[in-house]
Amino acid sequence: MKRTEIKDALQSDNFEVEMKVMGWVRTKRSSKNVAFIALNDGSTIHNLQLVIDLEKIPEENLANVHTGSALSASGRLVPSAGSGQRVELAVEHLELLGEANPDEYPLQPKKHSLEFLREKAHLRFRTNTFSAITRVRHAMIFAIHKFFNDKGYFNIHTPIITASDAEGAGEMFQVTTLDLNNLPLNDDKTVDFKQDFFGRAANLTVSGQLEAELAALALSKVYTFGPTFRAENSNTSRHLAEFWMIEPEVAFFDINDDMDLAEEMLKYLISYALEHCADDLAFLAKRLEEEEKNKKAEEKSMELISKLRFVLEQPFERITYSQAIEILKNSNHNKKGKFSYPIEKWGADLQSEHERYLVEKHFKRPVILTDYPKEIKAFYMKQNDDGLTVRAMDVLFPGIGEIIGGSQREERYDKLLQRMNEMNIPQETMWWYLETRKFGTVPHAGFGLGFERLMLFVTGMGNIRDVIPFPRTPQNCEF
Ligand code: 4AD
Ligand code: MG
Repeated sequence: MKRTEIKDALQSDNFEVEMKVMGWVRTKRSSKNVAFIALNDGSTIHNLQLVIDLEKIPEENLANVHTGSALSASGRLVPSAGSGQRVELAVEHLELLGEANPDEYPLQPKKHSLEFLREKAHLRFRTNTFSAITRVRHAMIFAIHKFFNDKGYFNIHTPIITASDAEGAGEMFQVTTLDLNNLPLNDDKTVDFKQDFFGRAANLTVSGQLEAELAALALSKVYTFGPTFRAENSNTSRHLAEFWMIEPEVAFFDINDDMDLAEEMLKYLISYALEHCADDLAFLAKRLEEEEKNKKAEEKSMELISKLRFVLEQPFERITYSQAIEILKNSNHNKKGKFSYPIEKWGADLQSEHERYLVEKHFKRPVILTDYPKEIKAFYMKQNDDGLTVRAMDVLFPGIGEIIGGSQREERYDKLLQRMNEMNIPQETMWWYLETRKFGTVPHAGFGLGFERLMLFVTGMGNIRDVIPFPRTPQNCEF
């Protein structure tokens, strides 16, 4: 007999034929004549209730069935007598596929802390929370490709190993096959990378943007969706050393087109989640409500589903960095010294506390900030005529801060070269990038969406380590 997935079994009205299900036991309870097992196979958040008549199947057969064991069960689907489920399976045959000794199996049918589950990342997929997150994550990956495909974008794979630093921030992981205990040295005692695998120093990429630009300057509309790596030592709930980024890059776009695309895409993804992940989001909403029970009213975040709907309905506020600085500088929050980094003058880099103040307290909706000081942004951004600012745009979200960072690109050869020199960006590793400004250069723009930041927002989870299966953070590379 072929296996029926629990998702399908739960929706079936076919009470005549026998069906077989397989999965992992969430709970087992038995009384004198009957035992109940909640079985889950990951196809849905919901369990199928197995009903076992102990006169037909002796209780000894269930002795090794515990939370975490794997079972195959066949029988007929029947309308459920109990509340809580529409149908259940009246079991005729039961086979134990894999035991889980209750004295050793770490997951018990009770609430485990997220911190505890991070230490059990190999098993946490089996909890409701992580299976829900995993399904939502899949739906968002699919929706991202669908969004761009439907709009005629081409997906390109950009390299993971690279010799250039796209963001110029120097936060890269080095890739080498040199023997670190016996490094080949130049006369001046620096490492001789000519002897390394690529004949030069190489790193893991921080962004696929530069290569995406090359493709956009031929195919017009492209996007990447790949892993990116940052060796920044920030142990926050919003930073990973390895995360996934979606980077559209579009020829003939200016910064306004770029903002329109970012807003449209975020709204598309949120409404896709509401439409296609209703059961998982309902579960995650309840989880969040539980978690926030003990918080003070003013610290509570909005109910998850309402928050997602709310963002869909609001046009994002678009203001310049300079306007934002005025708002922040004059805010009571700033005057009362409530920011860890007080805003004193134009030029300050914005911290996530400032971003969240603008979004959550001041505008009460997502905000897109544009035209940042050139000093705090990357070399490739288009310079404004004021000589002070660049055509950057960051999308700020409630509870998250920056979710998207992007810009119109500097398409003028001389301006780009001058900025690269000012910022000590080595031309010898970037000559190919400069050449695109010599041959058929056009205005273009793009952005990067941090996939796990999107996942934080959509799932209502509070820590980025819980929305990626195997988080990579400083001092943490276990699984
Ligand atoms: O603002 P960032 O650094 O922009 C770029 O990398 C550009 N090259 C993108 C582009 O224009 N094509 O990063 C983009 C986004 C951020 O807004 C944030 O959502 C996410 O990537 N991000 C991180 N997410 C998790 N952990 C980290 N350490 C992150 N750093 C950035
Ligand atoms: Mg950024």
